[in-house]
Amino acid sequence: MRDLLRTVVVAPMAGGPSTPALVTAAARAGATGFLAAGYKTPQAVEDELRAVDGVYGLNIFVPAAPPPDVEALERYRRALQPEAERYGVELPPLRLGDDDHFAAKVELARAYGVPLVSFTFGVPGRAVVAALREAGCRVLITVTSDDEAQRALAVGPDALIAQGGTAGGHSATTSPGSYTGDATALDVLRAIRTDVPVVAAGGVAGPADVERLLAAGAAAVQCGTAFLLADEAGTRPAQRDFMLAGRGPGTVVTRAFTGQPARAVRNRFTDAYTAVAPIGYPAVHHLTAPIRAAAARAGDADGLNLWAGTGFRSARPGPVADLLAALMPS
Ligand SMILES: Cc1cc2nc3c(=O)[nH]c(=O)nc-3n(C[C@H](O)[C@H](O)[C@H](O)COP(=O)(O)O)c2cc1C
Repeated sequence: MRDLLRTVVVAPMAGGPSTPALVTAAARAGATGFLAAGYKTPQAVEDELRAVDGVYGLNIFVPAAPPPDVEALERYRRALQPEAERYGVELPPLRLGDDDHFAAKVELARAYGVPLVSFTFGVPGRAVVAALREAGCRVLITVTSDDEAQRALAVGPDALIAQGGTAGGHSATTSPGSYTGDATALDVLRAIRTDVPVVAAGGVAGPADVERLLAAGAAAVQCGTAFLLADEAGTRPAQRDFMLAGRGPGTVVTRAFTGQPARAVRNRFTDAYTAVAPIGYPAVHHLTAPIRAAAARAGDADGLNLWAGTGFRSARPGPVADLLAALMPS
């Protein structure tokens, strides 16, 4: 495991930022990079698996959504109508079922013997973990508490990822109703009782954060936000421009875009809808998709899910090798 998990893991970032170029450059620079399978078709994932080079991982979403509250989702659909009008788009009918091609993505990981396979949004079945390990893959499961860690350990992973509420993007929490996002990566790392290696993730802005997490026992530190502006990342231009302009009042945990708690830069959309958004991934993700797409086309950061962790103001542009060097403790 130690040969695969370098000190810094460049986090999987679905929705654009993670590219084979980012992952390959991370490997060349001495980090471990992850491809993000989330939202992609199996064909797109396979294309990326063919394009990547060096030690790497693949991240897969576990379809573990609680039963949807259709009435609450319909209410949210009505609440979003002014946004649809603002951007001149139609809100789609509710789409409740979507497993993000889970089985096909696991099969690809097996077929390609992907060295590291991480999961988020829940715990994969024991048979899935066993099949991956049999194919030579090492399995990591993302958790946000010791409770989740114990459930994850029951299926026999090689390592855990302890994700703090400070992390950018979706939380892996399986309790989206009570999740506050207040726990730091250090809090989650310290709470977890296990003998398997634990990778810490969330809110890392510089070498002091990396050093603190390693000193507390982390096997590696997974960083996403610090690489959002990397030259090799596929981050959307509207998000890049927004972050480069150094604006933004801070970050907030919100279900407004997807129905699953996620940390994003606060903007007009999060201010308007965080209080009323229901639990309901992936239904809310599909519902807001046309709004987000129109906002991206218009370069309007106020209608976009600007996923970012609490350390977002420290993110810098440049080649991944330079960004990595800036994060390494001396
Ligand atoms: C834009 C973005 C997209 C993300 N997408 C994923 C993903 O697809 N899968 C996943 O396990 N984690 C995802 N994450 C969370 C990261 O794995 C990691 O927990 C987080 O980036 C660590 O916190 P930091 O952003 O403060 O460094 C994403 C994070 C960001 C910022």
